[in-house]
Amino acid sequence: MSARDSILVTGGAGFVGSHFARAACDAGSRVTVLDDLSAGTMPAFRDEVTFVRGDIADRALVAKILREHGITAIAHFAGKIQVGESVKKPQLYFDGNLTKSLALLDAVLEAPVPFLFSSTAAVYGMPDEIPILETARKEPINPYGASKLAIEHALDAYGTAHGLRWGALRYFNAAGAHPDGTLREGHDPETHLIPLVIDAALGRRPPLSIFGDDYPTPDGTCIRDYIHVLDLASAHLAALDALDAGVAVRAVNLGSGSGFSVREVIDEAARVIGTPVPFTMGPRREGDPAVLLASNGRAREVLGWTPQRSELATVIGDAVRSRS
Ligand code: UFG
Repeated sequence: MSARDSILVTGGAGFVGSHFARAACDAGSRVTVLDDLSAGTMPAFRDEVTFVRGDIADRALVAKILREHGITAIAHFAGKIQVGESVKKPQLYFDGNLTKSLALLDAVLEAPVPFLFSSTAAVYGMPDEIPILETARKEPINPYGASKLAIEHALDAYGTAHGLRWGALRYFNAAGAHPDGTLREGHDPETHLIPLVIDAALGRRPPLSIFGDDYPTPDGTCIRDYIHVLDLASAHLAALDALDAGVAVRAVNLGSGSGFSVREVIDEAARVIGTPVPFTMGPRREGDPAVLLASNGRAREVLGWTPQRSELATVIGDAVRSRS
């Protein structure tokens, strides 16, 4: 039996979760998705995916799924993801992300299977050093990052106390889409740069507002590390294999290791789409670090993983196809 045999994917209707569900199916896993559909609509699942609509904090439901589907691993993607919303409505994050995840973990401790958690670069707050190592100071500057870091602390403690096998994968800027165009990034409201840039270029939204051009970067706009969602998916499969092999995965950054400014993303999108991207220059958005760039050395070493689709042109091209 391997961890990959029968995977419970919480939040499997969301952007990263649905791509992982697809990749796991393609790699031969049985996949059960648990999602309350609070953040959107049903993606195009394969017939072989079992979909359960429900709450990750419903202990009886989770126990039933674990039992009836012979679950061999859990990949936990469900959660709230909007930084700005987390500042205004922290309960949604401390309750929705932290409390519900703790309830899910109760069920996991009853039937110990490897557990992967979607964490985030937001755990680092304003980084002191670039690229960011996993050992860097972690002082989240918003409730979103704080709730994710708190779950990491719980995983660490449960690992020590109960032998839980876990990995917390800290995503940098998840982007792109499945190249077949059937799955897409579809947040509501959409706040992420690449979908907004594409929709502005296609005339579906007003011009993009660039959030500040007075940062200490070469062109003054913020630099981010865009990682293709299928590279995130393959890292999760590699993490399950590592946990199976007895490797202590723990916290691992998932980034491409390359940074691009907002202006570079706009220029590349214009080139890929073949039309200019209309934009205006706006003020800074509160809480944006100037540069977020991953050191992905630990992912390469511990997971034996390398990003395959995270060149910026590929990320944008796949995202464009999914939105056309
Ligand atoms: N940006 C704009 N205009 C927009 C939207 C974004 O200029 O309309 C800029 C942002 O200021 C930022 C960059 O584009 O510099 C990327 O912004 P995103 O909103 O796409 O992503 P973030 O870097 O803010 O956030 C991402 C994840 C979060 C995670 C964070 C880590 O979406 O979940 O990285 O800090 F918390």
